[in-house]
Amino acid sequence: MKDCLLIIEDEKLLGLELKRFFTKQGWEIEWVETLEDARQVLLQQKIDPLVVLSDMNLPDGNGLDFLEAMRDKNIEGIEWLFLTGYGNIADSVRALRLGAFDFIEKPCELNRLSLQIEGATRSAKAQRRLLLETQSSHRKYSTDALLGNSINSKRLREMLKRISQVPFSSLVIHGETGTGKGLLAKVLHYSGRRAKQPLVEINCAALPHELLESELFGFEAGAFTNARKRHRGLFEQAHQGTLFLDEIGEMELGLQSKLLKAVEELKIRRLGSETEIDVDVQIIAATNKDLSKQVAAGKFREDLYHRLSVLAVHIEPLRQRLEDLDDLVPAFIGEFNAKSGKKVSSELCDETWRQLKDYHWPGNTRELRNVIERCVLLAEDDKFPLQWLQLSGKVEVENPATPDSAKHLQIPLDGSLSLQDMEKYILQRVLELTDYNVTAAARMLGSTRETLRYRVQKYQLKYP
Ligand SMILES: Nc1ncnc2c1ncn2[C@@H]1O[C@H](COP(=O)(O)OP(=O)(O)OP(=O)(O)O)[C@@H](O)[C@H]1O
Ligand SMILES: [Mg+2]
Repeated sequence: MKDCLLIIEDEKLLGLELKRFFTKQGWEIEWVETLEDARQVLLQQKIDPLVVLSDMNLPDGNGLDFLEAMRDKNIEGIEWLFLTGYGNIADSVRALRLGAFDFIEKPCELNRLSLQIEGATRSAKAQRRLLLETQSSHRKYSTDALLGNSINSKRLREMLKRISQVPFSSLVIHGETGTGKGLLAKVLHYSGRRAKQPLVEINCAALPHELLESELFGFEAGAFTNARKRHRGLFEQAHQGTLFLDEIGEMELGLQSKLLKAVEELKIRRLGSETEIDVDVQIIAATNKDLSKQVAAGKFREDLYHRLSVLAVHIEPLRQRLEDLDDLVPAFIGEFNAKSGKKVSSELCDETWRQLKDYHWPGNTRELRNVIERCVLLAEDDKFPLQWLQLSGKVEVENPATPDSAKHLQIPLDGSLSLQDMEKYILQRVLELTDYNVTAAARMLGSTRETLRYRVQKYQLKYP
C-alpha cells in the first residue's frame, strides 16, 4: 500500500506540480483546494494521510486554524507541514506550538521539500507505532487486569477505579515483593488521564545514587567527566505522563531532598545547568519497606514521605487473600498454555489445591506465577502435575512435642513473632544445627543453596 499525502493548495499550478512530483515519488496523492474539502476527506476518513502539506492562506480560512480544529477532533498520527508565501514569525511560532512538523517559505525547491516530507513521514510512522502500543497497553492494563476475587482485591480494584478518575500528583504503593506493585502502577497509568502520555519507570535500587540522579534529572554536556552530550532526564521524558519510581525506599537521603523539590515545585534542573525546566509529571512510587519505619530510623525524609503518601495503596500479601488463587491459578495456567502450546487443565485435584492454599507464598503472586509456569512446562499430559508443585519451606509447627530433637523447632504462635521473624529464626537455627553448612541447611529446608544464601544476606544472619 502506498503512503498517502494530503495536499491543501489553492494555487492550481503549484498544486498540480506538487501532485505530479510526489506521485512520481511513489505517493498516493489527495489534492484539495479548500479547507472544507480537506475537512471532508479527513473526517469522513476517505483517506488516511501520514503527512498533510498545506498552504497557509486558503480561500475559506487559515491553515493553522484548521490544524487547531483538527487537533480537537482527535486526528492523530499525522504530521503537518505548512507552505507560506509571506512567512511571519508569529505564524511560525504558532505552527510549532500547535505541533506542526515544519513551516516552509515559498518558493521552495521540490527536492528540499521532499527531504522534509521524508522526515515528517518517519515521524508520523513512529507516532503511529506509539499510538498502537499505547492502545494495546490500554487494553492490557485496565483495572480488570488485576485478578482476584478476595474482598481485598475487590476493594483494591474499586479504589483504583476511583483514583484513576482524579488527577493526583503522587501516590505510594506498598506491598511485599511480588504482590503486583509494578502491575498496579501500569494499571494506574493506562487507565488514568495520562494514558496517552509516557510511563517512564526506574528502579531506584538498581543504580548507584550519582547515576540515579543524572538519570532522573538529566545533565548538560560537560556537567561531569563523561557527559559528552546533553541528556534529557527521566523527569523530562515523562513530561505530561507518569514517572514510576520503583523501590523508592532505597533512595539515598541527599537525592530524596532533590526529588521532594522536584515533586513540590514541578521544576527540575539538569546537572550542570542554571535553568529550571517545568515538568508536569505524576509520580507513582513503590516500596516493599514500611516507609514510616524508615522515617523513624532516619533513613527516609519525613517531608517526602508525607508528600508521596497523600495517596497510599497497600497490597496485601498473597497468603492473606488466598481466595485469589481461584482466579490466579487458572489464569496463569491459561497464559502458559498459550505460550507453550500445551493444554494443561485448570481443573486441579483436591490435594493440589490443599498444597497451594497451605503454602505461605513468601514471593507472593510472582512466586505463584513461576510455580505454575514450571508445572505447565513440565506437565506430561493434560493433567496438572502435582509432583512439580514442590512448595518447600513450609513452617513446620505441627509437632511441638519434640522440641529437643534436632529435626524439630519450636515456634511460638502467640503473635510475638511475625512471619518474617519466624523465617529468620528458622534459618538461623537450621544454620546452627548444620554447623553453617549451607548445602546441608538447604537440604533440611527443602530449598537451594542460592535461595539460602540470598536469605542469609537479606536477613543479615550471623555467620561465623
Ligand atoms: N492481581 C494480579 N492479577 C494478575 N497478575 C498479577 C496480580 N498481581 C501480580 N500479578 C503478576 O505477578 C507478577 C509479579 O508482579 P509485580 O512484578 O507487579 O510485583 P512487584 O510487587 O512489583 O514485585 P517486586 O517488589 O519484586 O518488584 C507479575 O507477573 C504480575 O503480572
Ligand atoms: Mg516491581
